[in-house]
Amino acid sequence: LRLGVLASGRGSNLQAIMDAIEAGRLPAAVAVVISDNPQAHALERARARGIPAAALSPAAFESKDEYERAVVEKLQEHRAGLVCLAGYMRIVGETMLAAFPNRVINIHPALLPAFPGLHAQRQAWEYGVRYSGCTVHFVDGGMDSGPIILQAVVPVLPEDTADSLAERILEQEHRIYPEAVALYAAGRLEIRGRRVFIR
Ligand code: GRF
Repeated sequence: LRLGVLASGRGSNLQAIMDAIEAGRLPAAVAVVISDNPQAHALERARARGIPAAALSPAAFESKDEYERAVVEKLQEHRAGLVCLAGYMRIVGETMLAAFPNRVINIHPALLPAFPGLHAQRQAWEYGVRYSGCTVHFVDGGMDSGPIILQAVVPVLPEDTADSLAERILEQEHRIYPEAVALYAAGRLEIRGRRVFIR
C-alpha cells in the first residue's frame, strides 16, 4: 500500500507511521508527503528518510478547488492508494474525497464525537471529562465526522494540565494510527453506514 501523507506541522504522527514501516509492523510505504505549510517540520522528517516531500501553498491557487486539484495530482503522480491526514489543518473538500473515496483517514486527539475541531485536548481538559483519548476515522466532508476505525482511551488525571494530557494522548495516537493503517492495508476494514467492521 502506497501512502500519501498530508501534514501541516510537527509531523510526529508521520514519524510514527514511518517508524512502524521501518520496524516491519506496517506493510506499506510512504510514497509522498504533502504540506500546505512550507515550514512544516513534517517535510524535513520525510526528506530525512528520502521520501518525496512537497509544499503546496493554498494562497498560490485561485480557489480551494484548484488547490485540491494540485494536491490530488501530486498524490496520483506518486500512486498513493490511501491518504493519511496527520495534523493536516484543513477541511478536505469534495475534489479530494471524489478522487479518493473512502480512502482518506485522519487522526483526531479526542474521543469523537466529543470535542471535534481545534485544540481538542484543551477542550476536553477544560470541560472536565474524566477520560479522553484519540480517534482514527475515515474522512467525510464534515469536521472530524467520518466513520470511526479505532479509538484509544486516556484518563484525565487530577494533576494534568492541557499540555500533559495532550502528551499522553499523543503517545496513543502514535500507537493506533499505524495500527489503523495496517488494518486498512490488510483489507480488513469494511464500512457499513457509520460503522466500520474489522474482519
Ligand atoms: C495531532 O494531535 C493529531 O491528532 C491532530 O494534529 C496533531 C498533529 O501532530 N490532528 P503531529 O503533526 O502529527 O505531530
